[in-house]
Amino acid sequence: MCGIFGIITNQDINIGSIALEAIRKLEYRGYDSCGMVSIENTDLQILKDSGKIDEIHEKLHFDTLNGSIALAHTRWATHGPPTKDNSHPHTDCTGEIAVVHNGIIENFIELKKELISKGHSFKSETDTEIVPHLIEEKLKEGYDFKEAVVEALKKCEGAYALSVCYAKEPNSIIVARKESPLIVGMEEGKTSYCASDIPALLQYTRNCFILEDNEMAILKAGEIEFFDIENSLKKITKQPKHINWDIDAAEKNGYEHFMLKEIFEEPDALRKTLKTSDEEIELFARKLIKADHIYITAAGTSFYASLAGKYIITRFLGKYIQEIECSEFQNKLTGALEKNTVIIAISQSGETVDTIEAIRWAKEVQKDITILAITNIIGSSITRYSDHSIITRAGPEIGVAATKTYVTQVLSLALIALKIAGLRKKLAPVELDKYYDALKSIPEIIEIFLKNNLESIKEIVQNLEKNANYFFLARGISIATAKEGGLKLKEVACRFIEGYSAAHAKHGPISLVREGFPIIFIAPPDKSYERLVGNVMEFKARGGHIISLVVDNDETISEMSDITIRIPQPSTKYYQYFSPITFIPALQLLAYYAALDHNLDPDKPLNLAKTVTVH
Ligand code: M6R
Repeated sequence: MCGIFGIITNQDINIGSIALEAIRKLEYRGYDSCGMVSIENTDLQILKDSGKIDEIHEKLHFDTLNGSIALAHTRWATHGPPTKDNSHPHTDCTGEIAVVHNGIIENFIELKKELISKGHSFKSETDTEIVPHLIEEKLKEGYDFKEAVVEALKKCEGAYALSVCYAKEPNSIIVARKESPLIVGMEEGKTSYCASDIPALLQYTRNCFILEDNEMAILKAGEIEFFDIENSLKKITKQPKHINWDIDAAEKNGYEHFMLKEIFEEPDALRKTLKTSDEEIELFARKLIKADHIYITAAGTSFYASLAGKYIITRFLGKYIQEIECSEFQNKLTGALEKNTVIIAISQSGETVDTIEAIRWAKEVQKDITILAITNIIGSSITRYSDHSIITRAGPEIGVAATKTYVTQVLSLALIALKIAGLRKKLAPVELDKYYDALKSIPEIIEIFLKNNLESIKEIVQNLEKNANYFFLARGISIATAKEGGLKLKEVACRFIEGYSAAHAKHGPISLVREGFPIIFIAPPDKSYERLVGNVMEFKARGGHIISLVVDNDETISEMSDITIRIPQPSTKYYQYFSPITFIPALQLLAYYAALDHNLDPDKPLNLAKTVTVH
């Protein structure tokens, strides 16, 4: 949550425009306020306010910031509402030190009291503002800039990715990281950059250095030095990671919104993820085969990918996999984590704090444990706290609502499941090949669906009652699709939905159904289909407005439905486990057009940020 960016250069370039472009690319991390600082003639120039980046730019003109150094920030409010005063950068009493920060300084109340007693005055309600004041205090005590930052950080508990500039030392930016993501990169001899995420740097360099916890870097124009904060600021050497994402992938490329573009990128993301190395998949498969206990943990959309994936893997593994939402992982497993356990942790960003905390805690309390991560971000925190990782190949996902990353997560889990089926000889080779063929045909199924259904989905949305609440119901593996499809509508179109088991809905939720109540049934032709027919009838009998998702040649449930969305998928058993991938684009599109219908920006859902780095 929150995006930070910094630039220092010896080139004749407009740093204000560059920083503006960069925070636009990070806007998905938070979009309630933003700000920038540059140093001109040894004075800090600060422009900041609450609101969306483009609105603020129109008022304040970020491109008027000149000089050779700038820091920028886009905020998702935690401490203090989105106001101008609470926007970053924050400064000290002298107005010479400026800080942008992503994370939370947990002991800020106590530190603030201490600083106030020493005569400091504060302008904001944020936790961040204590940092420039602490640095100011340490400079007064005689430390130099670098030491003062380190001494200040020693007093801070919590998480930070921060970037600091000091008017009296305009030739360097100091950055440091603990638990919040931070990368740096440079054009040698010319310009150095720091940012919360890769898309902000992609246009300048493909070789990024990913800071680890308790590392600091000093950025000079085209030159970067790294230090270990915990080891007396010892200088360290780091190797860059090469990023092979397309620059275009982080641009809208003619689409009105990233969400729509990213739905359209699903076939390509799936094709690339199908090429995940066989060794990586096999390693995961073997670890699961050997494990005595298996848990799968994640948040939000990644958790729903877990639900689908655990279902597929269990079929071939023959062992129970317990899914636990990451935020409850420790609560549920305290005293119960046994030896020879495998935990699969899924996170598109690789930075979700509750997922990271779950696996770190598990490693601490049980040594005989293996953590397997699935993430879209190379070098992300989850990869560092896991024993092995699979990187999905979705490319950058900028829309706050996860779309293409979801399908690649489910696909990775499906590949592991089929590998297990092969290793355990649960399927005859011919059968196994047919499952693989089905999996490989999914990108095309989605392509055909997207090509032929945009208008009909728009029309469905236009004819839906504007203020309705919804049920998304399904059985078996499709419960994951119901929950994920429902989450999309909730997030981007602000509709209240309940994603539920169609069978279980009789035990309470059905009492809400009245004439016209919209119920979306996910009805692929799998083992649950026949019983789902009964459930559709129950809801129809009570006046429910039935919208069903079925395959092309469906006859029964489509007959009973008021509206049908058809997925061009063969109805053979070889697709039975893969409908979470083939059916979800329809629901993502439904949510997308519903957001537009409500005049909402689907890329920036209310109150949300793409990466949740607070508990
Ligand atoms: O980066 P992660 O996959 O760990 O994120 C988990 C959730 O925060 C995320 O899926 C969230 O629910 C999205 N807004 C879903 O669209």
